[in-house]
Amino acid sequence: MTTSERRYHITTFGCQMNKADSERMAGILEDMGFEWSEDPNNADLILYNTCSIRDNAEQKVYSYLGRQAKRKHEKADLTLIVAGCVAQQEGETLLRRVPELDLVMGPQHANRLKELLESVFDGNQVVATEAVHIIEDITKPRRDSKVTAWVNVIYGCNERCTYCVVPNVRGIEQSRTPEAIRAEIEELGRLGYKEVTLLGQNIDAYGRDLPGTTPEGRHLHTLTDLLYYIHDVPGVERLRFATSHPRYFTERLIKACAELPKVCEHFHIPFQSGDNDVLKAMSRGYTQEKYRRIIDTIRRYMPDASISADAIVGFPGETEAQFENTLKLVEDIGFDLLNTAAYSPRPGTPAALWTNQLSEEVKSDRLQRLNHLVNTKAYERSQRYFGRIEEVLVEDQNLKDKTQVMGRTRGNRLTFFAGDITELKGQLVKVKITEVRAFSLTGEPIEVRQSVSV
Ligand code: SAH
Ligand code: SF4
Ligand code: F3S
Repeated sequence: MTTSERRYHITTFGCQMNKADSERMAGILEDMGFEWSEDPNNADLILYNTCSIRDNAEQKVYSYLGRQAKRKHEKADLTLIVAGCVAQQEGETLLRRVPELDLVMGPQHANRLKELLESVFDGNQVVATEAVHIIEDITKPRRDSKVTAWVNVIYGCNERCTYCVVPNVRGIEQSRTPEAIRAEIEELGRLGYKEVTLLGQNIDAYGRDLPGTTPEGRHLHTLTDLLYYIHDVPGVERLRFATSHPRYFTERLIKACAELPKVCEHFHIPFQSGDNDVLKAMSRGYTQEKYRRIIDTIRRYMPDASISADAIVGFPGETEAQFENTLKLVEDIGFDLLNTAAYSPRPGTPAALWTNQLSEEVKSDRLQRLNHLVNTKAYERSQRYFGRIEEVLVEDQNLKDKTQVMGRTRGNRLTFFAGDITELKGQLVKVKITEVRAFSLTGEPIEVRQSVSV
């Protein structure tokens, strides 16, 4: 079957890793001759890259899918794909629920899209959800941004947090080699990318599955070593990484971040709960005291570092007093950003089976109270930027005010200022901050830094 003039649309529902997978799958489709269609209703191939982290993320997929399944009755050559974490979780069940589907493929199969589609075009309905070794990607991703890029360094997760579907849907940890990672970043540098975020669900686990140990018995390849190894890649001016797990976050890593100028002073370290018994029930493997020590150490080395995290409220059995320990942690630490969620029981996870589930009312009440505190604290944290000069990497136009551009500070605060995007895209600009809000800033440009390395 020919793919000439075939148009595709991808809708991405999930986290950064899910988005990175979408960019790689888009690259594969374009390599096969497909063209991007902004409007899904004009596309001949629709791919839903799904997320299963909470029930509402999953339900969204079914409503989108229902509409396209109907469209297929009028357009028989429409190709319908469900990829990502719901695909992995549901597998064959999805085909029974939506028989119009052509392909159901788990996240570990993202790089195999071409081969799987060829089988679809041969007339098969395909399910690819078996655990596989993830092959190195040979196609260039179609990246959404020309300025910032994601680079996967480790796939999967070996933790067993009792609420979480990720280990079930993403499989066991698999690190890419430092050489493959560096080669990808060098290519990004050549293409003019200025910022790279290294990705992993548990990025501190990087390298544990790679061979080799040091004379002291440490793994030869760790995230810290990787940062040193990639730091001098020409053109790339900023490095970030996510997501960090408090159980494995080391002082050695903190030192490296303080020492390496390209590594931004921003850390995303989810704590999930501020109560030790809840943390234990979640199988997180650390105490709130340890979490506080990590933040203290970061601030000792980098007093201005911004800290973001994720937290869950209403975990099974969480008492009012335990929830208040989460509030207390948030109060004491003062996060620059906190992603909050009400606990959602997920299929195949231990906590979903426990009988001490809380009511929706309790969960949403706690979520509201926590969000209120988060806003207040983020607003307080923002004050430190007022009047300061911050370096902003310009990513795009401000969609709400086209006379402005938007970018991020090293601490990851969204910042707006007056300017022309055609001149400033991808530039590092010194900006004097004149207005602060809880999660964003406005300022005046002072100076555009001339890039030294290209
Ligand atoms: N690997 C990361 C997070 C992965 S999932 C870590 O270990 O922190 C992203 C966030 O979704 C989690 O940090 C958690 O806050 C939230 N989350 C995961 N499972 C959830 C569930 N069942 N209900 C509500 N929130 C959940
Ligand atoms: Fe899920 Fe825990 Fe793994 Fe994070 S570390 S992805 S929360 S199992
Ligand atoms: Fe969702 Fe899968 Fe990411 S469940 S959060 S898309 S790893």
